[in-house]
Amino acid sequence: MTRRVRKAVVPAAGLGTRFLPTTLAVPKELLPFDRRPAIHHIVSEAASCGIETMVFVLSRGKESLLHYFLRNAVAIRSVDDPERQRLLEEVQVLREQMEIVAVYQEEPLGLGHAVLCAASAVGDEPFALMLPDDHFIPSPLPALVEAYESRGLGGMALKSVPDNEVSRYGIVDVAAEEDGLYILKGAVEKPRLDDAPSRLAIMGRYVLPPEIFEHLLHTRPGVKGEIQITDALHQIAATHGLIGVLFGDTYLDLGTWEGFVLANLRISLNDPVLGPRIRAMLSQE
Ligand code: G1P
Repeated sequence: MTRRVRKAVVPAAGLGTRFLPTTLAVPKELLPFDRRPAIHHIVSEAASCGIETMVFVLSRGKESLLHYFLRNAVAIRSVDDPERQRLLEEVQVLREQMEIVAVYQEEPLGLGHAVLCAASAVGDEPFALMLPDDHFIPSPLPALVEAYESRGLGGMALKSVPDNEVSRYGIVDVAAEEDGLYILKGAVEKPRLDDAPSRLAIMGRYVLPPEIFEHLLHTRPGVKGEIQITDALHQIAATHGLIGVLFGDTYLDLGTWEGFVLANLRISLNDPVLGPRIRAMLSQE
């Protein structure tokens, strides 16, 4: 079995309730951040880690995520602004680098279930799991890919969180720390503070062995009555070993309205062209 991480699964079947009413018609993964839709950043991040195939897990009505990556020569020809042309060409380059396939999650039964829906598209090989609400600068994925390809160990990005955020995330149980990696002995989904084994939260980048699918098949509904990927990870820690890579740099949460606005503000204010213009406009308010 290959140890190369060639595929990435992107769960994108959610209804985007926090972004209603926009999400009545537009998938939240297409909302723009730094001039490009969130899904563009995900595919671009995957491409820069050597991923060759994206598996989008969709629900009915979210096919526009695929349409975004269709070849669109007419749009490129009809745009004469060089900056816009460059952005359009970026999409084409991604399209040429990446095979994009879609599978459906027909019922909202949880993140673990969404991943299970990708089982036959992934097959018997390791894969990256990328949650499109979470954005990182820089990406923690290369370190996870490297850990899998060199040691055969699956893992995920971790962030140290304050007490009041513990129950929003999957929280890991650490066995040891080795060469900057955490060796994990388990994980709990959204624990109460008193039950949390640490303050290290799972963030939305994982590299997983194909055996996760077998564990997911036997995972019963957990927190919120949903099939949780974290419960299957807990099993993987015991059967195959699992690591965590601490991520300390910029994390942008596009899954909430405040996080989405803040992400756009931070990126725009740091942009050398846009930043000064926005500051000037704000000072005239
Ligand atoms: C999911 C995972 C959770 C993880 C989080 C990261 O939760 O179930 O373990 O910590 O993503 O963003 P969700 O945000 O879907 O509730």
